Amino acid sequence: MSLWGGRFSKELNEQFKEFNNSLSIDYRLAEEDILASIAWSKALVTVNVLSSAEQQKLEASLCELLEEVRINPEVILKSNQEDIHSWVENKLIKTVGLLGKKLHTGRSRNDQITTDLKLWCKKHITFLLDAIYKLQKTLIIIAEANQHSHMPGYTHLQRAQPITFAHWCLAYVEMLARDQDRLQDTLKRLNVSPLGCGALAGTTYNVDREQLAIWLGFSAANDNSLDAVSDRDYVLELLSNASISMVHLSRFAEDIIFFNTGEANFIELSDMITSGSSLMPQKKNPDALELIRGKCGRVHGALTAITMMLKGLPLAYNKDMQEDKEALFDALDTWLSCLNITILVLNNIEVKRINCQKAAEQGYANSTELADYLVTKGIPFREAHHIVGKIVIEASKQGISLKALKLSQFKEFSSLIEDDIYSVLSLESCLKKRNAQGGVSAQQVTIAINKAKKRLYNFSISHKT
Ligand code: ARG
Repeated sequence: MSLWGGRFSKELNEQFKEFNNSLSIDYRLAEEDILASIAWSKALVTVNVLSSAEQQKLEASLCELLEEVRINPEVILKSNQEDIHSWVENKLIKTVGLLGKKLHTGRSRNDQITTDLKLWCKKHITFLLDAIYKLQKTLIIIAEANQHSHMPGYTHLQRAQPITFAHWCLAYVEMLARDQDRLQDTLKRLNVSPLGCGALAGTTYNVDREQLAIWLGFSAANDNSLDAVSDRDYVLELLSNASISMVHLSRFAEDIIFFNTGEANFIELSDMITSGSSLMPQKKNPDALELIRGKCGRVHGALTAITMMLKGLPLAYNKDMQEDKEALFDALDTWLSCLNITILVLNNIEVKRINCQKAAEQGYANSTELADYLVTKGIPFREAHHIVGKIVIEASKQGISLKALKLSQFKEFSSLIEDDIYSVLSLESCLKKRNAQGGVSAQQVTIAINKAKKRLYNFSISHKT
């Protein structure tokens, strides 16, 4: 029987029933629905709807159910109940009889669903924060091991200036730190309990909603019942956090895909995380990274879908909102698995230092140094830039690097160039000079590593038990 049988005399149309049911998606909220039900049963004692003995009986039965769904959540899928709320309530009625029917006093599925979903989000935020933490840690370990692995830095996918592999790793640590920060910020706003707001106008039972919120681990209760049951900002925020972070992961994936090409050949990906071609035996494809890059679209799609679903939706609850879970679950699952796969990729990567070094030395990535050198000799930068352009043309005509030009050849372009130019053009010197905060010098990279480590340590202190 459905939860609202009394008013209806005809059986539900099967096709509509299937269309309307959400159990195949929201069964994942079973634990949260049970925990929120236990808290609600306690609130009902305070307003004399349930006796303590009745509440204890309900709680014991709900706890048994909790064990059951923790062991095998899929068992729920065998039922043809409409949604997770009906499933829990029906199970309860089967075990404790009429008493089970008292539990829904003063609450609505409208405050229930968003309470359950918020509890689920809180749990998944901790999984995501943990994965982001581990990924940053992995990147820092690789950065530490590659502080002296030189490689070209790119703009427009053209070799621009030399950097280190460590500096590249730390760029992603920064992005992930912001992703982490955004999630923590979302959690602050999400952590408010809607339970006890009823269908839309509040509940007629004078429950202590702040107490109820604390029982469920929320920091406070919502102040407006209409808003509480209609609000899905937290879904939007999470999807937006997921989309931004997936953009970061997709850029990481693209960089690695490029580093792994035969053309760049900066890294080697382990056989364990690559796949072969069914036709071409020489190939080792970076599928894991291509999937991460590809899944970014799907996560962003979820954000667009839910934004459009909510746009113009009148207050308060509308069934449209049932659509939020499928998109949210899929996006957060995808994000989490991409974070974990990125860790796996990094743990199975070999940096080919010699190739990186060679590439850093090619491509005239030290041209800026030559221009800066001319500036120290009193030539205005614009003019220096022009002279260096000409020198680069000459060197590339000869097919050699700037360092390989003889002093006499340099002098044809500027008599101010002396023997000291060779040390200026060395990779080491290029890197060392970029020593302002955030630069690629060994000193700055060490500072950045220590800062990132400290940030992670503080995070672990506040988030781990
Ligand atoms: N399955 C519903 C959802 O996910 C639960 C809330 C149903 N409320 C209602 N008034 N029909 O949104």
